[in-house]
Amino acid sequence: MKLWGGRFQKETDKIMNSFNSSISFDYRLYEEDIVGSMAHAKMLCSIGILNEQELEAIINGLNEILEGIKNGEVELSEAAEDIHMNVETLLTAKIGEVGKKLHTGRSRNDQVALDLRMYLKKEVLNLKKLIVKLEKVIFTLGRENMHTIMPGYTHLQKAQPINFCHHLLAYAEMFKRDYERLTDCYKRMDYMPLGSGALATTTYNLDRYMVMELLGFSDVTLNSLDGVSDRDFAIELNSCLSLIAMHLSRFSEEIILWCTTEFGYIELDDAYSTGSSIMPQKKNPDVAELVRGKCGRVYGNLITLLTMMKGLPLAYNKDMQEDKEAIFDSVDNVKICLEIFANMLATIKVNKDRMRKSAGEGFTNATDGADYLVKKGMPFRDAHEVMGKLVFYSIAKDKSLEELTIEEFKSFSSIFDEDIYDALDLSNCVERRRVIGGPSTSSLRIQLDELDAFIKKAE
Ligand code: ARG
Repeated sequence: MKLWGGRFQKETDKIMNSFNSSISFDYRLYEEDIVGSMAHAKMLCSIGILNEQELEAIINGLNEILEGIKNGEVELSEAAEDIHMNVETLLTAKIGEVGKKLHTGRSRNDQVALDLRMYLKKEVLNLKKLIVKLEKVIFTLGRENMHTIMPGYTHLQKAQPINFCHHLLAYAEMFKRDYERLTDCYKRMDYMPLGSGALATTTYNLDRYMVMELLGFSDVTLNSLDGVSDRDFAIELNSCLSLIAMHLSRFSEEIILWCTTEFGYIELDDAYSTGSSIMPQKKNPDVAELVRGKCGRVYGNLITLLTMMKGLPLAYNKDMQEDKEAIFDSVDNVKICLEIFANMLATIKVNKDRMRKSAGEGFTNATDGADYLVKKGMPFRDAHEVMGKLVFYSIAKDKSLEELTIEEFKSFSSIFDEDIYDALDLSNCVERRRVIGGPSTSSLRIQLDELDAFIKKAE
C-alpha cells in the first residue's frame, strides 16, 4: 500500500513503479532526510503538535533507521518511491502509529528541497577543502621552481621566457576564484525551505526559524512557491563545477603536452601513469586525459539542469526529480578529479634543464632585444622591425640571438653595444619583468605570499 494510496483503487503498474522511483539515486540523501525530519519533529513538539513521548519515539526511531542505513542493515525499497517515503515507512514499521504523525505540516516538495540543499552545502565544503589541497601542491611546486626558466607561449608558439613557478601560479589564481565562487554559491544555498509545504505553506503555526537554527541555515526561504520549485542553487553549483572542471582540463592538457618526448618538461610518477597492452615503451598520462575528458560530462549536466527547468510552471513538477543524478554526478566527478590531479601534480618530476634549453630556442628574448633598443632611444615600432630582421637572419644562420657577434648586431643597428648580451640573457629577461603579476623573483614572492595567505585563511 502506497503512503498516498487512499485515493487509488488499483495497484501501480510495475514499470510505472520503477520509472517513478528515485530511491536508486536519492538514497544518498538519507542522512539529510533523517536529520531534517528530526528537526521538523522537534519543532512540531515545540508548537504542541507532538507530545514529548511522541517526539522521543520519533527521534529514537529515526536514529535507529539512520544507523541501520549507515551499516547496511536496512533495506530501501523501490515501491516506497524515494528516500522520503522510505524513511517514513520504516519509521512507522518501527514505532507504530506515532510515526504517521511526522509528516504533519510537511510535503515531500519542501522536504526534497531541504535535503538537497543540506547535501549540497556539505559537498561545497568538501569541494573547497579539495581546492585548498590542490593550491598547497601548486604552492610547494611553485616555490621549488622560482628559477626554473621555461618558454611562455601564445598560440602554443614560444613567446617570452617565464619560469615554471609563474606558469603554475596562473592556475593558482584560477582555483582561488573557483573557491570564492563556491563560497558565494553556498550563501545562496543557505536558505531553509521547510515550511513551504507542497507549495502554499500550511495552516499549522510552524516555527520555521527554529528548524532553520536546528539545521544550521542562515535564513529561511521567503516565498513558498519559490522555496519548493527552484533548483537554481544546484544549477549555480554546477556552473561553478563547470569552471573548476574547465580549469583542471586546461591544466591537464598542458600536463599531457609537457610529458611528451617532444616537450619533455616533466615526467609523471609511475603511480599516476599507465602502460600499453601492446607497446612496451609507453607511459601514458591517463589521469590528465580522464580529467580532461570528464569535463564534458560536467558541462553536460549543467545543460541537463538548465533544460530541465526552462519550461516548468510553478511550483513543483516531477521533472525536477531529474536534478539529482546530474548534480551528484558533477559533484562526484569534480571531487575525484581535484583529488587525483593534486596527487599527480605533487609527484611530477620537473626536467629543469629541458625547460631551460627549450626557452633558449625560438627567440623568446626577441622582445627584450627590442626593449633594449627602445631604452637606448629607438621608437618601439622601429626596434620591433630591427629585431624581426635579426630573427630572420639568425634563422638563416641557424643561430640563436645571443650567438650572433657584436659586428652582426651592429650591421642591423649602430645602437647595439656589448651590453646587448646582458639584455638577451634569459635569466635577466625574466628577472627584469618586475611589474606586479610578472615572473621576476620579487613579483613571484608577492604572488606566493598571497597564495600562502589564502591557504592559511582557508584552513
Ligand atoms: N522524489 C521526489 C523528487 O526527487 C520528491 C518530491 C516528490 N513530490 C511529489 N509531489 N511527487 O523530486
